[in-house]
Amino acid sequence: MTEVITSSREAILLEDKYGAHNYHPLPVVLSKGEGVFLWDVEGKRYYDFLSAYSAVNQGHCHPRIIQALTDQAKELTLTSRAFYNDKLGLAEKYVCETFGYEKALFMNSGAEANETAIKLARKWGYTKKGIPENEAVIVAVKKNFHGRTTTIISASTDPSARKGFGPFMPGFEIIDYDNIEAVEKALTNPNVCALWIEPIQGEAGVYVPMNGYLKAVEDLCRKNNVLLMMDEIQTGIARTGKMLASDHEGVRPDLLILGKALSGGVFPISVVLADDPIMLVIKPGEHGSTFGGNPLAAAVVMEALQVVKEEKLAENAQRQGTLFRERMQDLMKRTDRVTLVRGKGLLNAIVINDSPDSETAWNICMDFAKNGLLAKPTHGNIIRLAPPLVITEEQIHECCDIIEKCIVNFKN
Ligand SMILES: Cc1ncc(COP(=O)(O)O)c(C=O)c1O
Repeated sequence: MTEVITSSREAILLEDKYGAHNYHPLPVVLSKGEGVFLWDVEGKRYYDFLSAYSAVNQGHCHPRIIQALTDQAKELTLTSRAFYNDKLGLAEKYVCETFGYEKALFMNSGAEANETAIKLARKWGYTKKGIPENEAVIVAVKKNFHGRTTTIISASTDPSARKGFGPFMPGFEIIDYDNIEAVEKALTNPNVCALWIEPIQGEAGVYVPMNGYLKAVEDLCRKNNVLLMMDEIQTGIARTGKMLASDHEGVRPDLLILGKALSGGVFPISVVLADDPIMLVIKPGEHGSTFGGNPLAAAVVMEALQVVKEEKLAENAQRQGTLFRERMQDLMKRTDRVTLVRGKGLLNAIVINDSPDSETAWNICMDFAKNGLLAKPTHGNIIRLAPPLVITEEQIHECCDIIEKCIVNFKN
């Protein structure tokens, strides 16, 4: 590499000219990260309150994860699955034992893991449940976010995810989220092979379902011989104060889908976990990925999960999250600019008192950035606030002070 970026302006112009315009980033150009902090190319330091959409739960450039990455990179990075490698089995055993499943199937992106789960659920539906070929139905919920592939957006209800990208994949039925009766009704269709949900809807704006919803969904799935397919890509790996958000209600999905923080944000690693009767419906040659389960990923996953356990990040997320929401409740007493705070652990959102298509939430995030904190609106007037889970109590207070100051002083 010969050219070096020396200013934010230069980097933004370059991306604008040569990159696809498929994102609308905040105008901040980052060049370094460590723990809860990010630095821009001008050297300004920020608290990260997005954590790359919950992928860097362990903090930026965690030294142990980087060490595992670089050690393994010097030995072997990729074999493809045409051959065995000496790390994959260890990583499979580690994730199976960590999450309590018999088998693991590694992929790369979260979307690919969801695609994998869809294929497993359909194949199980045909070979185990006896659904007639090509008639399997997967029940999904409104406002879901599972990724960007054409199959996944076929189950989306977000017009900006779908418009212009049809025709869509058949075989999905969409019902209301957080509505047990809707699940009850949908699962009476004998062709339903799976119910596909997020335990908390992250992208939609951190929607937390009522207590007991997930347990009721699990019971209905069991009763109707339907697989519970849980997308914990954003909520998993200690983000909500437990290793999995499903753990809050003692729910055990049949298909557990993980990504993001599985690698500590080092590179894309995702996995689907299931027991033998489900996982073994897929036979050699029926599914795969050149990079899925590569030795570099295997080494990184084991270290990234060990860090979560040894540093007790779930416990810290629980503690700091409670503190954070208390501070936001206090803020709501002092201003009517924030109408709601919701979330679990360190996956939280505040709702700004303005119309969803106003610029207010965006402009508040610009003020946060000026004051050294990075966050982004998720949908319109909702700001998701999700720092790395290594954040300390003192830092949470400092960040709440920044958020409070920006919101109280905000002028339209
Ligand atoms: C719940 C959920 N599922 C799936 C995805 C897609 O993951 P990826 O962007 O790695 O494909 C995301 C990403 O935000 C997500 O939050």
